[in-house]
Amino acid sequence: MASRNSLFPFLCTISTIFLLLTPTNSDSPPQAPLYNTGIKAGYWQSSMAESFPPSSIQTSLFTHILYAFVEIDPQSYELAISRSDQNLMTNFTSTLHSKSPPSPKLFLSIGGGGSNASAFANMSSNPTTRTKFIASTIKSARDHNFDGLDLDWEFPQTPGDMSNLGVLLQEWRASLLTESIATNRTMLQLSAAVYFASSFFLSPAGPSYPADAINQCLDFVSPMCFDYRGSWDTSATGEPAVLFDKESNVSTGYGIGSWIGSGVARAKIVMGMPMYGRTWRLKDPKVNGVGAPAVGVGPGSEGTMSYVDVLGFISREGATVVFDNKTVSDYSFAGRSWIGYDGVETVSEKVRFAKEQKLGGYFFWALGYDDGNSSLSITASTTWDSFHG
Ligand SMILES: *[C@@H]1O[C@H](CO)[C@@H](O)[C@H](O)[C@H]1NC(C)=O
Ligand SMILES: *[C@@H]1O[C@H](CO)[C@@H](O)[C@H](O)[C@H]1NC(C)=O
Ligand SMILES: *[C@@H]1O[C@H](CO)[C@@H](O)[C@H](O)[C@H]1NC(C)=O
Ligand SMILES: *[C@@H]1O[C@H](CO)[C@@H](O)[C@H](O)[C@H]1NC(C)=O
Ligand SMILES: *[C@@H]1O[C@H](CO)[C@@H](O)[C@H](O)[C@H]1NC(C)=O
Ligand SMILES: *[C@@H]1O[C@H](CO)[C@@H](O)[C@H](O)[C@H]1NC(C)=O
Ligand SMILES: *[C@@H]1O[C@H](CO)[C@@H](O)[C@H](O)[C@H]1NC(C)=O
Repeated sequence: MASRNSLFPFLCTISTIFLLLTPTNSDSPPQAPLYNTGIKAGYWQSSMAESFPPSSIQTSLFTHILYAFVEIDPQSYELAISRSDQNLMTNFTSTLHSKSPPSPKLFLSIGGGGSNASAFANMSSNPTTRTKFIASTIKSARDHNFDGLDLDWEFPQTPGDMSNLGVLLQEWRASLLTESIATNRTMLQLSAAVYFASSFFLSPAGPSYPADAINQCLDFVSPMCFDYRGSWDTSATGEPAVLFDKESNVSTGYGIGSWIGSGVARAKIVMGMPMYGRTWRLKDPKVNGVGAPAVGVGPGSEGTMSYVDVLGFISREGATVVFDNKTVSDYSFAGRSWIGYDGVETVSEKVRFAKEQKLGGYFFWALGYDDGNSSLSITASTTWDSFHG
């Protein structure tokens, strides 16, 4: 169970009461619609703007598109937004808001895998810097016409970081409400990308996320259910994003179960899926199963390969393709090259799982990695709509 802090429910109750007491006449800000269709989210990388511009996104397959990323300035603790970020942000929102309705909700995502975890830790530890940060996120979102904000702090590392994260979410939510009332605009939404499990259980003293604050203050939370295996261990091949694993708890099924167990509402949990694979170089091409000895990374960029490139590899090399129905994962190999990834069958099974678990939806990292027919995006969307677990 996640650590509890009695301050969280108190602060959120104040916001809730405030909302209830706000008369629902024409003076109250319009409320955001409910997502009865489920959340179908995808991150778009601004670093890929040349090869995969916002106009390439198949918006009919997504309800939420997240702009990845902007960073926090480690001195001022405000968002550090360059001129070129500004242009891209404006281009992103004006392009996607003008798509035929229903146009997806657009979130500005802050942080990411390459960001400065100490800057988040420092910012969230102090009321003055939290306030500066929150104000700057709201200004950037409004200036560039976003519908919401997404925090991708990778990762809070200590129990102190986790409790500061809870306080940050409380204050952020309260500020979003205040701003919405003051400006008579639809309240900005708030989400966060988090570790695949609700605690860092692999380290003996790993901290737990502030589940109460997450449940009460976020519109949804997105466990990053991938990167279980990769280039940091080149000794053996591995499936990077298994749904099930009998031997360990490093699986999407366990991670999602831990989030449900933490007390976060199922409908707020948005399960992550990778649109990329991870690659190894086999020691012996004849020993090519899961866990086969390896001697380094395989093809692709530092051992990663987008789904579209995995398909290119398979057709070019005439590679063997295996759908592992025990773990729910795909892998492919040819010669000494071995790739673990999520293919169409895996995505379909995972989305059925998410639906069975009554989750809020799913997200992909990252848009632009799908094949030219949007096979994974279409599979996920149609499975979500057609499967009634
Ligand atoms: C608030 O916005 C709504 C439309 O979204 C409008 O009908 C209403 O008059 C506005 N109220 C104020 C006080 O501006
Ligand atoms: C977005 O940028 C692209 C490439 O620079 C440009 O062609 C397009 O017109 C821009 N769209 C909008 C809505 O600004
Ligand atoms: C920021 O964090 C680092 C390490 O986490 C710490 O050494 C430093 O003193 C902090 N700075 C401030 C201004 O809090
Ligand atoms: C990361 O953030 C910390 C705390 O704000 C800061 O002291 C440090 O200089 C930052 N590191 C980089 C590389 O910007
Ligand atoms: C997985 O987690 C459960 C409790 O959540 C624990 O009982 C079990 O021993 C763990 N399994 C492994 C292989 O660590
Ligand atoms: C997995 O595949 C094997 C071999 O194709 C099959 O015998 C088995 O029934 C399948 N298991 C499940 C759970 O689908
Ligand atoms: C798209 O689908 C068509 C028909 O199934 C197939 O011939 C084509 O190779 C696919 N293209 C890509 C880029 O996946």
